[in-house]
Parts: sequence; structure tokens; C-alpha cells
Amino acid sequence: MSLYAIGDLHLHFQSELKAPGQLRDPVWRNHETLFRQNCEKMIRPDDTLVLVGDHSWGRNLAECEQDLAYIAALPGRKILLRGNHDMFWDAKKTEALNLRYAGKLFFLQNNYAAYRDWAIVGTKGYTFEGPFYLRGRRIVDWDHEEEAHAEKLVEREAERLKVSFEAAKADGYSRFIMFLHYPPTSILEKNSAFTAMAEKYGAEQVIYAHCHGEHRFHDSLEGRHHGIQYTLVSGDSLRWMPMKILE
Ligand SMILES: [Fe+2]
Ligand SMILES: [Fe+2]
Repeated sequence: MSLYAIGDLHLHFQSELKAPGQLRDPVWRNHETLFRQNCEKMIRPDDTLVLVGDHSWGRNLAECEQDLAYIAALPGRKILLRGNHDMFWDAKKTEALNLRYAGKLFFLQNNYAAYRDWAIVGTKGYTFEGPFYLRGRRIVDWDHEEEAHAEKLVEREAERLKVSFEAAKADGYSRFIMFLHYPPTSILEKNSAFTAMAEKYGAEQVIYAHCHGEHRFHDSLEGRHHGIQYTLVSGDSLRWMPMKILE
């Protein structure tokens, strides 16, 4: 039994692709076939695969059905996190999605999933992504209005993450693996509301995605920070090979 994770599949079986660069980049060419083949080789029926957000380019559930059916047909138990591009997943409709896809997919938000002794907790997260003003390659300033707006979104997402941790704690869990779609910190930070929460609840690992394209792979924490392991699992950074998180 193993736990795997990967994010940013950005499937588009039905919907128009909003990022044409995705088709031009050789890393993304037929990525859905390569990813399925990798899963079929690696993942057994009793394994769990966490899809760390940005599943589909579809603008609503009808436009995502084939993308979600593709995910449901992958081996193992599938847990989905909400990404910034997942327009089909209204924040208030997580329960309705869990009812609709019961036994096929589990949508993680304001809830948790059990994995052996661990609780899998998570939320979309948020982080300030600029605009940054540069002198040469050095950041000398940034848009402070955008930063203030981002802080509000960070607060809301931190509250959702707390609900997830507390639900698991109430059921007796004390070991946590924490998932975010957005990186836990902005490129200006080493600590954030999310790293503070990971530390407060004693999460063993923080897994995140969203940073794709090679120039973004090192935007946030990697490796150990204050005793917690931080790992980026965006699909292109892993060349579509799910990362093993726990045996
Ligand atoms: Fe993405
Ligand atoms: Fe994203």
C-alpha cells in the first residue's frame, strides 16, 4: 500500500485548451497517455493517488466529465484537491461532488481522507504571485494592492485548511500529510500562514503543485524546513511520473 501524488494534469478531452503553449512544449505532448501508462505500471489497486489540483481546462462540470472519467479510470483510490483552474468545482459544492462521484473520486476540501495512520488534509491555498518589479533579476518592489488582496485569500484558505485538520483531529488522527495546490509561500517568503499551520498541527509533509514550467520549479520551499518535508509535485516537473509520498 503506497501513497502517490501529482498535480496540474490540465486535461482537455472536451474543452478548448486555454494555454496553447501546452501543445507546443514537448513535455506536454500526449502527456495524458504517458501519465496513464506510468500510473498503470506503478500504482496498485490498494494504493492512493492524490491529484493536487488543476485537473481540467473545462469551464463547468459538463465540460470536465471526460477529464474526470479519465482520472476515475486510473488505478488506485483517487483523491482530488481544488486548483485555481478547476472551474467545475464551486467551493460550496464539494459535498455534492462527493455524492456524485462516490466510490470513484474523493474531493478534498473542508474534510479529510484516512490513509493508514495518517490523515490526508488539504485545501487549494493561495499565494501572492506579483506583479513584481525587477531591477535586473532582483525584485526591488511589488504591487502592494495585489499583495493586500492576496492576504485576504490566504486567510480564507487557511480557515478551510484548519477545518480539514480539525475534522481529522476530532476523529483521533495525530499524524498528517498536508496538501496545497498553490505553493505554501510566495517567492518573497520563507514562512506563511500555511507553514505556520503545518507546524502547529505537526504535519510530516507538505505537498504542493501549481508551479509548472521550469522557471517556476524553485519558487517555494523544497526539502526540510522547520522539520517538515516540502515537495513540489507539478506533473511536468515530475515528467508525469507520480511521486511516492509514503510506503
Ligand atoms: Fe496548473
Ligand atoms: Fe494552478
